[in-house]
Amino acid sequence: METIGAGLARQAAIYRAGALGHRPAVPAGFAALERRARRVSSRTAWAYVAGGAGEGRTMRRNREAFDRWAVVPRMASGAASRDLSVDLLGVRHPTPVLLAPVGAAELMGRDSDVRIARAAAATGTAYVLSNQACNPMEQCAAALGKTPRFFQLYWSKDEGLVDSLIARAEAIGAGALVVTLDTTVLGWRPADLTLGSLPFAQGIGIAQYTSDPRFRELVAARAGGAARAGRPGAGAVRTALGLARHRVSRAAVETFLDVYSNPGLSWDHLATLRERTRLPVILKGVLHPDDARRAFDLGAAAVVVSNHGGRQVDNAIAALDALVDIRAAVGPEPTLLFDSGIRTGADVFTALALGADAVLLGRPYVYGLAIAGQRGVEEVIRNVVAELDLTMALSGTPNIPSITRDLLREVAQIQRPPSHMRADQSS
Ligand code: FNR
Ligand code: LAC
Repeated sequence: METIGAGLARQAAIYRAGALGHRPAVPAGFAALERRARRVSSRTAWAYVAGGAGEGRTMRRNREAFDRWAVVPRMASGAASRDLSVDLLGVRHPTPVLLAPVGAAELMGRDSDVRIARAAAATGTAYVLSNQACNPMEQCAAALGKTPRFFQLYWSKDEGLVDSLIARAEAIGAGALVVTLDTTVLGWRPADLTLGSLPFAQGIGIAQYTSDPRFRELVAARAGGAARAGRPGAGAVRTALGLARHRVSRAAVETFLDVYSNPGLSWDHLATLRERTRLPVILKGVLHPDDARRAFDLGAAAVVVSNHGGRQVDNAIAALDALVDIRAAVGPEPTLLFDSGIRTGADVFTALALGADAVLLGRPYVYGLAIAGQRGVEEVIRNVVAELDLTMALSGTPNIPSITRDLLREVAQIQRPPSHMRADQSS
């Protein structure tokens, strides 16, 4: 694996290639990245991936929270190079950036999860495999090679399926089971609702299910029941994306919709994990300090402070504000991961300074996938990490533990200029 920590090397590679007439595959700034991804996406794909809950207030607030913290760089530290590595649950990672679980990514490019896994492997970046992936976890694990992987679980209504997914996660060498708590039902998402479009209803994003032996039993039982009742049960669904490529049976889609997620998920369910797996458990989607305490009391190895990228509850607290509250409540020791609103390396720096041990990158890498496939994902990761490294270089922080709260100052909200006045217009 090539070292990706060196921001100078990334800059130099880009400028050197540029002198020979080669441009990077993806824009380096987020605004242009987003614009270009939107241009190459279908309306329904964009609605799902970029969309959020309700009026989009949580998504907006996630970004605005970053503007309230200004970096106060320190000079002349004398450190000519940085060490970006972090220890997470006993494993050394080259950088504090991981890839968040993202379902239905195939909307943004075929063979999505395998391509993302290859980009993760090429950069040594840990990948949290989604429960709603478009490729079975075993395929992604093969593409990851030795790169760390986690499996993100949505707690199914069928307890046998929960056990089966956990067993598969253990078998692919997952470093932890990431149980997402904030999506026991999908939030109210106007962009998808207006188009009447949900990927899963079209058979997109259910590959962990259709590849699962327990799920297949459930499908067979349902199809058998439907046939006995004289109802159409096993016809093929042709998805909007797939046409010839995708053929998922109607019975599979209906079974998925039946067993998807347990709206009655409780701390009692979570407590059963102790007997059900030897994997460390990470609870994702925690925003209240009391829930974070409860998670650690229950034996969670880590918590992901996250509001699911603003996709679940409109007008929820910014994830970054929740991070501040939760770090204050649990003290310095417990492992806190963070996502929701990370767009750049400078954002990673801020989240680390406010108490995150590592962060998950979400939409930005999916936009890279939309624009340039595996290479796009790889470049987005390299750019974010390069900017983190350069921010560290210019702020006097030689390593991750030295990124501390005293390097930030809370300031009045920055007024963003209207988009037509922003410098970053190249796309
Ligand atoms: C997600 N996220 C998500 N989380 C999860 O636990 N399982 C999943 O299957 C998905 N699926 C998913 C799909 C899409 C299209 C998006 C954008 C997000 C949430 C994800 O892991 C992460 O919390 C957010 O993406 C972080 O917010 P930002 O940085 O993307 O705004
Ligand atoms: C989403 C689910 C799949 O955010 O996590 O769409």
